[in-house]
Amino acid sequence: MKPYEKLLKDNRAWASEKTKEDPEYFSRLVQLQTPEFLWIGCSDSRVPANEITGTEPGEIFVHRNVANMVIHTDLNLLTVLDYAVRVLKVQHIIVCGHHGCGGIRAAMTNHDMGIANKWLRNIKDVYRFHRDEVDAIEEEQLKIDRMVELNVREQVMNLAKTSIIQRAWKHEQRPHLHGWVYDLKDGIIDPVCEMPAGSPLLDIYEYDDL
Ligand code: CO
Repeated sequence: MKPYEKLLKDNRAWASEKTKEDPEYFSRLVQLQTPEFLWIGCSDSRVPANEITGTEPGEIFVHRNVANMVIHTDLNLLTVLDYAVRVLKVQHIIVCGHHGCGGIRAAMTNHDMGIANKWLRNIKDVYRFHRDEVDAIEEEQLKIDRMVELNVREQVMNLAKTSIIQRAWKHEQRPHLHGWVYDLKDGIIDPVCEMPAGSPLLDIYEYDDL
């Protein structure tokens, strides 16, 4: 059996297992999705949103990219964010980074990564904002881990800087923004920051007439 054929075979087994446990499982999910959470995570195959949070299909709306970035020119991210906030009306948005992130590690080198340079440059900017602190850390691994945390904080702030979030904060007092870091070594998620609806921003980022 080819590796991809195993995926299809296991899919059949999973679907029949689900139906056996709960005959209404799929017909219920087909009706509608009402997830309470938007997850913005890393594409890394070791950080699957549903598995590590013990959630089921239907519970988390998911967007993943390299190093869980919130970049204001990323049409994909903005489309997901707008849909999650305006249509699905999620209550919480989680930006989840992870220790050992290859995207962060690559951004902290001088290697030419081709097309990815433009993406990773946003992480180099996070380093620039926190250069003194990061440079003071001696051990390479701890330096990367600290950058993972600082990057999550920055991406949560990037969410708050969007008119999508500010409009929902003003009119509906949601969503609550969370920055989390997942540890590959023990599977534990640690919260590193949060911004409840209405959190103050540096005023230059606040839009009027929303
Ligand atoms: Co990663």
